[in-house]
Amino acid sequence: MSNENKKVDVEIEVTDEDLKKLHENAPKKDSQASQMDEINQIMQKIKHKIIVCSGKGGVGKSTVATNLAVALASQGLSVGVLDVDITGPNIPKMLNLEGRRPEIVPGTKKFKPVNGPLNIQVMSMAFLLETPDTPVIWRGPLKMGAIRQFIADGAWEPMDYLVIDLPPGTSDETLDIMQLTKGSVVIVTTPQEVAMMDSRKTVQMSKTLQLDVVGIVENMSGLVVKCPHCNETIEVDVFGFGGGEKAARELDVPFLGKIPLEPIVREQGDLGLPVVLKDPESESAKAFERVIKKIRESVE
Ligand SMILES: Nc1ncnc2c1ncn2[C@@H]1O[C@H](COP(=O)(O)OP(=O)(O)OP(=O)(O)O)[C@@H](O)[C@H]1O
Ligand SMILES: [Mg+2]
Repeated sequence: MSNENKKVDVEIEVTDEDLKKLHENAPKKDSQASQMDEINQIMQKIKHKIIVCSGKGGVGKSTVATNLAVALASQGLSVGVLDVDITGPNIPKMLNLEGRRPEIVPGTKKFKPVNGPLNIQVMSMAFLLETPDTPVIWRGPLKMGAIRQFIADGAWEPMDYLVIDLPPGTSDETLDIMQLTKGSVVIVTTPQEVAMMDSRKTVQMSKTLQLDVVGIVENMSGLVVKCPHCNETIEVDVFGFGGGEKAARELDVPFLGKIPLEPIVREQGDLGLPVVLKDPESESAKAFERVIKKIRESVE
């Protein structure tokens, strides 16, 4: 008989003390799992999570997210904004919060999200950068780690709405945030064919992950300007009209409305005072209000 096959009876006496030690030295709960627990607990304290996304860059996601957040807050709701665009965070600029830093809650390892306009709780990578021009050159896993920390380590107050601003596309951050929050998806597109093509992908992705697609917003739909001669408001075709509506019909998801391309939207974005607060009578602010009403009707 070889040594390996030899059967040996060994008696081991285990005392209560040994058992206690064994228990004490058992590997602590995996830190990733406890982070997920934290995230789930925070998510439970938020009534509605709205994920603002699009397959394409520059179509107005951050503009929609900030106008949505301040409009909801001005309706008396408690609101947070999570800027998940790690490499191109724009929310602090659009809410006039540049240079602010989240504070550590004394006696804990948690940070308090920055207190924005109308008491909106805001978290963004931009708050952690030395200067607004500091680039963040990170690959996917690092970005996802930061996003998870933003949620899990934040001392978030319970909220009616958390508005989440995503970078363009359907890769890491989008997938991660969709899975973590299981939020309701608002897709922003511009009317032209290439933007619509990309938003179709986002709709498919949301459906695959079994998320509620609130609908599509068509942004920059016709340029609204005042004629310098007669002062009449005129509409000029820039990116076209109706593309988002057509995409919504084709994809069988609700159409939430059109926001015109209006200079005041960009100006106010740059000034950090979203147009719905600055000029509620402007065409774009009225259009935002109609879209927001539909979003509320859909999710509440
Ligand atoms: N309806 C609009 N009318 C005029 N300007 C607009 C409108 N919507 C957005 N903009 C401007 O277009 C630019 C791009 O918008 P925004 O940053 O919101 O897009 P984004 O989709 O978030 O971009 P990114 O993909 O880089 O995150 C900004 O300067 C913004 O002020
Ligand atoms: Mg953006």
